[in-house]
Amino acid sequence: MCGIIGYAGPRNAQEVLLDGLRRLEYRGYDSAGVAIVGSGLQVFKDKGEISKLYTSMPEIRGNLGVGHTRWATCGKPSKQNAHPFVDCTNQTAVVHNGIIENYQALRKQLTDEGHKFTSETDTEVLVHLLEKHYRGNLRAALISALKEVKGTYAVVALRTDSNEIVAARKENPLVVGLGVGENILASDVTAMLNYTQKALYVMDGETVSLTADKVTIYDRNNDVVVREPSTISWTIEDAQKGGFEHYMLKEIYEQPTAIHNSLLGSLDEIMSEGSLVDQDFGAVKLVACGTSYHASMVGKYIIEALAKIPVTVELASEYRYSPGTGENPLTVMVTQSGETADTLAAAREAKRRGCHTLAVTNVVGSTIAREVDSVFYTKAGPEIGVAATKTYSTQLMAMYLLGLRLGYLRKAMGRDEIRSLSSELRSMPQYVRGVLDRASEVDDSTDMLVEARDVFFLGRNINYPTMLEGALKLKEISYIHAEGYAAGELKHGPLALLDASTPVVAACIKDHTYEKMLSNISETAARDSPILAIGEEGDEELLAVADKLVTIPHVAPILSPVPLTVVVQLIAYYAAKKRGCPIDKPRNLAKSVTVD
Ligand code: M6R
Repeated sequence: MCGIIGYAGPRNAQEVLLDGLRRLEYRGYDSAGVAIVGSGLQVFKDKGEISKLYTSMPEIRGNLGVGHTRWATCGKPSKQNAHPFVDCTNQTAVVHNGIIENYQALRKQLTDEGHKFTSETDTEVLVHLLEKHYRGNLRAALISALKEVKGTYAVVALRTDSNEIVAARKENPLVVGLGVGENILASDVTAMLNYTQKALYVMDGETVSLTADKVTIYDRNNDVVVREPSTISWTIEDAQKGGFEHYMLKEIYEQPTAIHNSLLGSLDEIMSEGSLVDQDFGAVKLVACGTSYHASMVGKYIIEALAKIPVTVELASEYRYSPGTGENPLTVMVTQSGETADTLAAAREAKRRGCHTLAVTNVVGSTIAREVDSVFYTKAGPEIGVAATKTYSTQLMAMYLLGLRLGYLRKAMGRDEIRSLSSELRSMPQYVRGVLDRASEVDDSTDMLVEARDVFFLGRNINYPTMLEGALKLKEISYIHAEGYAAGELKHGPLALLDASTPVVAACIKDHTYEKMLSNISETAARDSPILAIGEEGDEELLAVADKLVTIPHVAPILSPVPLTVVVQLIAYYAAKKRGCPIDKPRNLAKSVTVD
């Protein structure tokens, strides 16, 4: 999704902005641009990669500037529609994330008043509104302009005749980085890690005035806000590739550490006050999108098994429009970014219904974290690849923790049972390492998928959602059409599609579904589908029906989604790599989907 960076300080703004934009690339974008106050206002923007800007821009001297990566919503990806936008006098520049819903009416009104528009975007009305309301104070002009606007925004503006950057936020993230003699504004901290570890999160309704020496945040009433800065614990190395060919692979390999960090402390406190939730909720609803939705589906099996309470799972984009049943389950919003528009809207709806809301998110200071009643941070570290990997496995950890906690509160689990599962959970990093040590086997097994047009992923029970996740990963990064299916459903339709050209990836672990899975695999083999089975070490029976077998270590069935997940992530990764796909930045996708 779009990214913002703004800089005021002694450094060359051009360098800081381009560096910041590069670090925001992971959010997904189709065009990028910068505006720098040098000799006048200098704007450079273009469709395509940021590297194009690097090579096409002349050297500009200036210490104040804003930059933007755009992911098209209103108006196609093009140079004209790229941010920043400037006013008719070429004195003010604006960048914006979010959507101005009433932009067409505003555009007509401003055009009638003589303003000239150069793009198809909603954002451009903002710069003309600033021009209209400017009376010598840019922040005051911004406040007046935003009174005319309906929609959501993180908006940042500057003028040629001042050394100030101003900003405002509504439902789109914005954070100030505090340096020494320099200050930065960005849509996320990744863009500022090179310069500072001190951050001030801007809240909805607030406006900001930022110069090299001073940052002032004002609330809705225009009173100065006093807020303690937070320390960003992520390092620049955390956000870089560290020798791996792709961020996705690096992040897959970071899973043992990420899982360990997510459990750290929380597992020890599971039977103590103040852990996760303090009430015995009679039911749980998990609400999420995409990969987080799959983690929630696994969560249903986990929480029902451990806490013995009913769990429902809903897509955030559906939940927000449903009428509600009048019941008030613990409502858990699962979102790695904490910025997904549908999940945020669902959280607001859950609160409106009177539910206790808990967010499971990876991003400290994200919008969801500030809006819900309580938060569990997954501690996976920054995830740059668009495909969610380590945030998924740490979401699974959150589900185990929640299941254990509710199981304890409801007395559905005894202390010994909790201790025994906790100790198995503590071994998860080691099991995941075991899978990673055999990544080359997974790599070899993907040869049968590379040329396929369609692939089916089959699983049963707790491993059915993991196979949905496998199919999503494969689609997302290799562009091969893939479908995840509960294996028992095969005979109700999809069997008609199976033949020698349609490979099947099947999870078959030794739990109570083993025999049934073996029969399903045999059914597909009878239709000549090439079979890549994922099963346990030493499973000769499975090997006999599969064309390839990738093995995972034996763990308690309830924990099997963890090693299995790593295998399906690797399958998607190696298949995409063999097909030469842009793994970290798949076409049409963004890391954080802040539009609905
Ligand atoms: O940030 P969120 O977890 O709310 O994101 C939800 C989905 O957009 C996300 O999981 C998406 O499906 C991933 N790109 C999948 O890898």
